[in-house]
Amino acid sequence: MSNSKITLSEELQRFNPVTVIGAGTIGISWTTLFLAYGLTVRVNDPRPDLKEVVLNGIEQIKPTLKALGLPTENLTDHLEIEPDLERSLQGSAVVQENGPERIEFKQELFSKIEKAVTKETLLLSSTSGIPSSEIAKGMKNPGRLLIGHPFNPPHLVPLVEVVPGEHTEVQAVNDAIAFYKSLGKEPMVLKKEIPGFVANRLQSALFREAIHLVLEEVVSMKDLDRIVTNSIGLRWAVGGPFLTFHLGGGKGGLPAFLKHLGPNLQSGCKNLGNPTLDESTVQKLSNEAMNSYGKVQIEELENKRDQKQISVLHVMNNQH
Ligand SMILES: NC(=O)c1ccc[n+]([C@@H]2O[C@H](COP(=O)([O-])OP(=O)(O)OC[C@H]3O[C@@H](n4cnc5c(N)ncnc54)[C@H](O)[C@@H]3O)[C@@H](O)[C@H]2O)c1
Repeated sequence: MSNSKITLSEELQRFNPVTVIGAGTIGISWTTLFLAYGLTVRVNDPRPDLKEVVLNGIEQIKPTLKALGLPTENLTDHLEIEPDLERSLQGSAVVQENGPERIEFKQELFSKIEKAVTKETLLLSSTSGIPSSEIAKGMKNPGRLLIGHPFNPPHLVPLVEVVPGEHTEVQAVNDAIAFYKSLGKEPMVLKKEIPGFVANRLQSALFREAIHLVLEEVVSMKDLDRIVTNSIGLRWAVGGPFLTFHLGGGKGGLPAFLKHLGPNLQSGCKNLGNPTLDESTVQKLSNEAMNSYGKVQIEELENKRDQKQISVLHVMNNQH
């Protein structure tokens, strides 16, 4: 798609309209992307400043959409602000839920949602880690419910983890894949449900050690970030950990790598840290983060991050 007029593609027609529940960081990002692809979006959230927060959020995202080659004119023509849950769901083809990350909240919400939608409505939750089999516990017919977990911000990062539960019908998985692909995303289906899914579990493993190294004063927070962006960050943008080590094994690939360095890798894992995020640790990390990054406005840091990520994406797309 290039920066022209908003058009609803043929593939997306059966997914129109969409209800976005929860207009926080993730909900607003999804809303803006859906609008740019021509979908009618009903946004539901009980917050009193709903309209204002959604309109401001869309404005802030526009430059990124533009840089991605997506349309930014008349974005709000098909936006509907609907604080009433039931009304926001009437006749919707897709629901993308982005409410608070609390299991009881999501269980109660989806048990209400299923009463207001049709049997065909695709029910997707953005949850960062709650399996849909848990969310489905209050529902009578959870066949169309599954996880569509984006990486922040969803309007920019390609990955969406598609995670069916034990109740999810195959057709719903196929529909979710088709929906996200039609929005230019890279849906990845997990073979099994696991709390935290894949990307966040990987991120947690690395972050745990990063915290340990900073707390042990091996390295400052800012230097640790630079170590990552200048080494594994660069590598992982073009090849994941397995391909990277397959190449680390020379001509013999991963088998040679594991034979040569596997024993060291395993014994090294025993020395990894396992910090506890107690009050004083949180305080210490918060102080260092504010000293390292607090002088620059968050919006400025976000814009810089988005610009750099767009440049990386452009390079990667051109090389496919
Ligand atoms: N922030 C991230 O990096 C990220 C990434 C991927 C997935 N997620 C997931 O997305 C979801 C939303 O996260 P977020 O960061 O946008 O949170 P957020 O706190 O920014 O937004 C949550 C929104 O839900 C609204 N809300 C509260 N009660 C509601 C109700 N009854 N009905 C409808 N809306 C209600 C709140 O008013 C708020 O606007 C969570 O499940 C989270 O795990 C977050």
